[in-house]
Amino acid sequence: MQTKIEKIDSSSALALKIIEAQENQPLDFLSFREKLSLANISHPEKKREWATARIAIHDALEALHIPYPGFYKDEHGKSHTMNGQGYVSLTHTPGFAGAIFHREQPVGIDMDLVREKILKIGFRFLDKSELDFLEQDPAHYTMAWSAKESIFKCQGRRGVSFRDNILLDPFDISASKIKGRIMGTDFADHHYKVEVRKLENVILTYTIW
Ligand SMILES: CC(C)(COP(=O)(O)OP(=O)(O)OC[C@H]1O[C@@H](n2cnc3c(N)ncnc32)[C@H](O)[C@@H]1OP(=O)(O)O)[C@@H](O)C(=O)NCCC(=O)NCCS
Repeated sequence: MQTKIEKIDSSSALALKIIEAQENQPLDFLSFREKLSLANISHPEKKREWATARIAIHDALEALHIPYPGFYKDEHGKSHTMNGQGYVSLTHTPGFAGAIFHREQPVGIDMDLVREKILKIGFRFLDKSELDFLEQDPAHYTMAWSAKESIFKCQGRRGVSFRDNILLDPFDISASKIKGRIMGTDFADHHYKVEVRKLENVILTYTIW
C-alpha cells in the first residue's frame, strides 16, 4: 500500500493511502468496538476503504508519537477519540483513503475523484456567487465540493447545507488554499482556510479550525 505522511506541525499530521486490491494489513490495533463496526460492513470495497482510513489515522498518529486511542462516532457521524484527547477526521473514496489528526483543534479532511458529472449537480451545492466564478471544469467544481466537505466535517454537525450555509471566496483552478465560511448557523462567524492538494485524478482538501 503506498502511503504519504505529512507532518503539518508538531500538533498535527495527515496520512494518505492508495488502496491496492487484495492486500491485507494487520488491524489488531483497532478497538473492540471498531472491530465490530468493520465486521458489520458487508461490501468488500467499502470494508477495505473503512479499514484503510483507520490504518491512515494510525500512521498519522505514529508520526506524532501518539498511541492509537480508538475512535467512536457521535450522533452526527463524526469520529472522536475514545480518551477525549485530540481531533480526527477521516475520508475514503474508491482507491484512496486518508486521515488527519490534531492535538488541539478540530479538523476536516476530504478526498474526491474528479468526475465529469459534478458539472451537472453544481446548483445543488453551490451558491450563485460560486457558480459565477467557477470555470466549467470538473476539477474546479471538485475543489469547491471537497473544500465544503472538509469545512462540513470540521464543524461536524448535520443540518449545515453546502449551498446555503457554506460560502467560498473566489479561487482559481491552480489554488492551493481556499477560504470559506459558515453562515446562518451557530458558527456564523467562523472563517476557514482549506488546503488543497491534487494527486492523480483526486482532489484532497483539509482544514484546521
Ligand atoms: C457525511 C459526509 C460528510 C461524508 O462524506 P463523504 O464525502 O461522503 O465520504 P468521506 O469518505 O469523505 O467521509 C466519510 C467519513 O466522514 C466522517 N463523517 C461522517 N459524518 C460526519 C460528520 N457529521 N462530521 C464529521 N465527519 C463525519 C466519518 O468518519 C466517515 O468515515 P467512516 O464512515 O469510515 O467513519 C457527507 O456525505 C455529508 O453528509 N455531507 C453533508 C450533507 C450535504 O450537505 N451534502 C451535500 C448536499 S448537495
